[in-house]
Amino acid sequence: MKRRSFLKGAAVAVAGAAAVPVLRACSRADAVPAEPDSRIAGKFSFGLGGTFTVLQFTDTHYIAGDPRSERALRCVQDALEGVKPDLVIHTGDVVFGRPDIESAMEILAPLAQSGIPWAVALGNHDSQFGSTREDMFKAIRSLPGCVNLPPKNGVYGCSNDVLTLSGAGGVEHVLYLFDSMDAVILKGEEEIHCYDYIRHSQIAWYRAHSERFTRENGGNPVPSIAFFHIPLCELSEALAAGVQPVCGNNGEPPCPSRLNSGLFAQFREMGDVKAIVTGHDHDCDYVLPYGGINFIYGRFSGGDTIYNHLGPNGYIPSDTHTAPGTVSGCRVFQFHEGEPGFRTWVRLYGGEIRQDFSAV
Ligand SMILES: [Fe+2]
Repeated sequence: MKRRSFLKGAAVAVAGAAAVPVLRACSRADAVPAEPDSRIAGKFSFGLGGTFTVLQFTDTHYIAGDPRSERALRCVQDALEGVKPDLVIHTGDVVFGRPDIESAMEILAPLAQSGIPWAVALGNHDSQFGSTREDMFKAIRSLPGCVNLPPKNGVYGCSNDVLTLSGAGGVEHVLYLFDSMDAVILKGEEEIHCYDYIRHSQIAWYRAHSERFTRENGGNPVPSIAFFHIPLCELSEALAAGVQPVCGNNGEPPCPSRLNSGLFAQFREMGDVKAIVTGHDHDCDYVLPYGGINFIYGRFSGGDTIYNHLGPNGYIPSDTHTAPGTVSGCRVFQFHEGEPGFRTWVRLYGGEIRQDFSAV
């Protein structure tokens, strides 16, 4: 456990050692505009069969030209062919080295060539290898099929976007993508250096969308899922209180920001978000309901450039950086027209299914 925490801490510390690179990615304004951006990045509809399938990749940690990344590329290709989703969401840490833009282009190429719409919620490592977060996001957005919109005026971060899924009667589900950024240093009497947190402007942006969807739905909140990279503090609180995952692997403690700006409370106030879907903690792929919201980890989709210890049948204790026998994968979400809930499961490389969780 300590080793994995050290590895993550090291990643932050490396960025922090240079001081400026961490803050450089945090240069976007966090001032809430009078009229929050109301654009929708993708408007989707149920197909003839009345189902809609979302495939989530996370933490591909790709490095172009590095043989340790070959497993990540195979995993992405295998999942796209096996799942045939209607939409793909990558919850960040797309890359893990230089050349970073080239690495992103290479690991996202299967998505760009698939003809399937896709979107990215950037991870903490996606702006730590030379390119600014803005340049990385711009390069990703240039690929075919990417539905992310340009960064929103006054909304902190880059990859904040809204996607809708409609049935015959209108919008039935909303998918929010948040940019949980990378790291932050708050100066003061006691300096705080930790993973970044969801900012005020992002919450205001979310609330504006949420209020409009509720209003347009006759005053009833529209079932929603929030996708981003770094989990929230409330997940740590749940585990500390003894709440256990209902399915999946729990191989390490969550590493959220030390700072809590209240996004979880906002989700509860608005009453629409039923699941918070993240990556970041590679040895976790579980579902943990807490406080009326399901905390859901994606399945690590990377290769061996970064720690990972999930095998086909669970966590593999190992003192090595990557445990022999680990299997990458993805998570799948399936929606049915007219039903407010969703099903989700983990698909391993090669096609085996683990977990089957239904949220009502
Ligand atoms: Fe990661």
